[in-house]
Amino acid sequence: MANVVVIGAQWGDEGKGKVTDLLSKSADVVVRYQGGVNAGHTVVVKDQTFKLHLIPSGILYPETECIIGSGTVIDPKTLIEELDRLEALNISTQNLMISQTAHVTMPYHRLIDQASEERRGNHKIGTTGRGIGPTYADKSERIGIRILDLIDPEGLRKQLNWTINYKNVILEKLYDLPPLDPEAVIDEYEQYAQRLRPHVVDASLKIYDAVQEKRNILFEGAQGTLLDLDHGTYPYVTSSNPVAGGACVGAGVGPTMIDRVIGVAKAYTTRVGEGPFPTEMTEGVGDILCDRGAEFGTTTGRKRRCGWFDAVIGRYAVRINGIDCLAITKLDVLDELDEIKVCVAYEIDGTRCDNFPSSSRLFARCKPIYETLPGWQQSTMNCRTLEDLPKQALDYLKYLAELMAAPIAVVSIGASRDQTIIVEDPIHGPKRGLLDANGTPV
Ligand code: IMP
Repeated sequence: MANVVVIGAQWGDEGKGKVTDLLSKSADVVVRYQGGVNAGHTVVVKDQTFKLHLIPSGILYPETECIIGSGTVIDPKTLIEELDRLEALNISTQNLMISQTAHVTMPYHRLIDQASEERRGNHKIGTTGRGIGPTYADKSERIGIRILDLIDPEGLRKQLNWTINYKNVILEKLYDLPPLDPEAVIDEYEQYAQRLRPHVVDASLKIYDAVQEKRNILFEGAQGTLLDLDHGTYPYVTSSNPVAGGACVGAGVGPTMIDRVIGVAKAYTTRVGEGPFPTEMTEGVGDILCDRGAEFGTTTGRKRRCGWFDAVIGRYAVRINGIDCLAITKLDVLDELDEIKVCVAYEIDGTRCDNFPSSSRLFARCKPIYETLPGWQQSTMNCRTLEDLPKQALDYLKYLAELMAAPIAVVSIGASRDQTIIVEDPIHGPKRGLLDANGTPV
């Protein structure tokens, strides 16, 4: 038995969908603990591609229970569309549970997200425009609508009447937008409530029961470490906590119930939205990575910014999340390159810097210090063991593990389930604890 958290070690889109799908096989329960429909997971099974935003990819296994936890924000319309799509493909959604204390994304959240981005001009975040920030802002302001409010018809009517009138002032006076009709929104959301009601549960209790029954639980993070509200590249972050610690708050479990943390990182780096990105390449190899890696957002279709692997943020992710082992994805995207660079440290105004700086202004001044490795210039897509890999590819992976002081347990060399190399059991492998700068346990 092991309870495992899977997190993104970069700026999101690391391929967590494929890794959680792989690990879901051995999980009895999969819990999504933060974020909303800003996330997008692509999972390829045989010749079918599934694009999921809120529902954990564990849903593809009929025996696995899937829980959308309290720390998430739920857009009911999108969630219902996702349920409908899965059911149309004969995938049962009976095992989906939704936390009664998750917050609901309302139409005014989307409108305010989009209008405020426009108003920010050069200061925009580059959000997905899905209303995520405003939903979490209402949660903090204590005027949010929770799932338990949504499924209480009388309560919903009263609460929404007040809230929509309050939000209409903001829409009209601040953003020059037409007001929302409270009755129309209430009618629409009552319909959603009817559809979602059978799935609503006390999620933290369900998870606690599963822990007591010694069932395997997989906590699935959305986005990535550098998008974390507290520990990411603030203000260019999302409004939740994708880091491993967020699993405790977002799922409602104590830290003593987590056994292991798996970090997922691409063999290079991508970022969507605004904000500094030291290893970014706006042309040349950047375009090759974008084309070969099909680097376009699952949720918004935006072109992702691409760059070399950044081991400074990799080391930071290992530290902030307490990563036990790594899954390195999309190694095959580097197959054609004659040389590959890795950022090992930064230079800020002539001084070497080995650690991620918290200030976004300092981060914007970071110049990458690169080490260059030879490429392998042959396909890795059919490799199924480490021995199958070209020597240069293996050396590259070893170098990444050494720089991050964390072992690599999984390597992905293509989108489908079988294009995976399992180096060591990611769930039951040895617990790493603290490592010194040389990767030696202390
Ligand atoms: P928001 O989460 O929509 O508020 O967007 C805030 C920032 O997080 C923007 O830079 C988005 O591009 C980024 N972001 C949000 N969700 C994801 C994701 O799933 N993958 C990658 N970037 C994301």
